[in-house]
Amino acid sequence: MSPSILNSVPPACAVNPRQVRAAVSSGRLPEYAEMLAAYHRAFAAELQTMLFDAWPAAARQVLDLACGDGAYSAWLADIAPANATVWAIDVSPDWLRVATHSAARAEAGRQVVALAGDALRLPFANESLDFVWCAQSLYSLPDSVAVLRELHRVLRPGGRLAVLEDDSLHQVLLPWNAELELKLRQAEWAAHRDARRSADRYYIGRELGRLFAKAGFCSWSKRTYAMNRQGPLAGDERVFLQLYLQALRDDTEAFLDRRDLAALERFITPGSPGCVLDDPHAAVTFLDHVVSAAR
Ligand SMILES: C[S@@+](CC[C@H](N)C(=O)[O-])C[C@H]1O[C@@H](n2cnc3c(N)ncnc32)[C@H](O)[C@@H]1O
Repeated sequence: MSPSILNSVPPACAVNPRQVRAAVSSGRLPEYAEMLAAYHRAFAAELQTMLFDAWPAAARQVLDLACGDGAYSAWLADIAPANATVWAIDVSPDWLRVATHSAARAEAGRQVVALAGDALRLPFANESLDFVWCAQSLYSLPDSVAVLRELHRVLRPGGRLAVLEDDSLHQVLLPWNAELELKLRQAEWAAHRDARRSADRYYIGRELGRLFAKAGFCSWSKRTYAMNRQGPLAGDERVFLQLYLQALRDDTEAFLDRRDLAALERFITPGSPGCVLDDPHAAVTFLDHVVSAAR
């Protein structure tokens, strides 16, 4: 990161939480949209650092693939020079509506062009982009190697791809009882398998380098970012963690015995003794992996 960037105050997240909540309530956006928006607000400074670290000098044509609520598109527009264009692409018109709003609220919103598009058939000529960013989306796409090949096609030689993903086993590190944690992660794995989802995709963070290589990116590098917080959590960090834990509880409920479920409830329910959200001595770590490669 350049010293001038380090000294400047990072812009906050441009996503409008009320717009996201309304879209979730009316069923237009998935349940997890509020959790993701809280994540962007809670870790805005660190997430922008990831963008700065990955940003290649002299990038002008920039793609935020599967842009979702547009938080990254707006931050990319803030980093980009005045003559750059940030393309925010998503397959969902409902996400694009939120992203368009976020881009308009960003300082340099004029540079963002929101477009409906499919990751497998991008509306760009061969070798036309300088930088592609793709956050927490590759895991959800049916053929991640095919998507990476499509990104290889649209990047110019020397252009850069950066993918942010997580690994469900190691995404949120909490000071819970180790035995409970093991049972919970086992139950999470069983829940993924039971829902006939491809369970492996939730652990994609550990596989990214191999996927890059299969798609033709010969040399890649990985940086893991640890966001450390101390309890008692407040604000967006608390909102994010509470939504995360609630979703984890709902997913795993059917795969835990009564005793373990009760222990989990005590750990995640505000006001109950031992609740991690209220614990002033809780150390909480969130991990994100960014794998990047030059074309
Ligand atoms: C988990 S969200 C992540 C959004 C955003 N990148 C972020 O980090 O907040 C996954 C996104 O992928 C988009 N998506 C799913 N399939 C897609 C496809 N085939 N082409 C483009 N976007 C797609 C969804 O609409 C959704 O916005």
